[in-house]
Amino acid sequence: MAAYGELCRQFYDADKGFAGGDEVAWYARRLPRDAGPVLEAMCGSGRLLVPLLREGFHVHGADDSAAMLAACEARLAAQGLATPLFRQDVAALNLPFRYGAAFVAASSLQLLVDPGAMRRALERIRAHLVPPGLLLLDLGVPDVAVNPPGAPLVEVRAVTLDDGARITLRSETTVDASSRQLAMRNRYERRARGAALEREDETLGMTWLDEEEVATVLGAAGFADVAILPSPWPRGQRSFAASARAR
Ligand SMILES: C[S@@+](CC[C@H](N)C(=O)[O-])C[C@H]1O[C@@H](n2cnc3c(N)ncnc32)[C@H](O)[C@@H]1O
Repeated sequence: MAAYGELCRQFYDADKGFAGGDEVAWYARRLPRDAGPVLEAMCGSGRLLVPLLREGFHVHGADDSAAMLAACEARLAAQGLATPLFRQDVAALNLPFRYGAAFVAASSLQLLVDPGAMRRALERIRAHLVPPGLLLLDLGVPDVAVNPPGAPLVEVRAVTLDDGARITLRSETTVDASSRQLAMRNRYERRARGAALEREDETLGMTWLDEEEVATVLGAAGFADVAILPSPWPRGQRSFAASARAR
């Protein structure tokens, strides 16, 4: 089952919109303005990339979802903006540019549940960095992992689109605290006048790290000067961020 397909994308954008002022300011305070372009790895549909471009940052985006990137392109065009976007797996990232800084927002790196894939992703991001070589990661421990339920957690949420249609999301989350993994089975349904018009199923995994492990993982991938910071976009009890420099 694919993840981040078109119905998921529509739900994501209706649910989250663009990044708010505090989150944008967090990145704007830290990202260099005079060190060439900046890379947002796993940029999605531009929730953060678009506002940062509006702030004058030269941000390129990479993501492996065609639906998310198409929406990002459309949102950029709607605002008279343009920037290079690349459809690539972050664990095999190979772009024709080098960057003074890179960032991964919204705990996206934690979607790489396989430790080898997470390490390869960090190494590939590292390979694209030139001085000052700053990396910013927004991370966190999901609330369901802090207090794991005894059975799969079922949640149903809905958003209403501009055309009046509704998309419902039914998610079933299973927590394996010992292996630090969440498994999510999601079903999106676009509904109008009570009938389901379209359906999309996805499975997603998510892992999490504590602050000490982040330093270890970043060190192994070629980063130094790791600092733990407050999260730019706190989404739970244990949200935090990390900054590091490419060695
Ligand atoms: C939670 S969304 C966050 C998007 C964006 N960073 C934001 O802040 O809204 C996670 C994104 O990671 C992307 N993604 C997941 N696995 C990926 C991979 N292996 N390589 C590249 N992108 C990936 C998804 O397509 C999705 O757009």
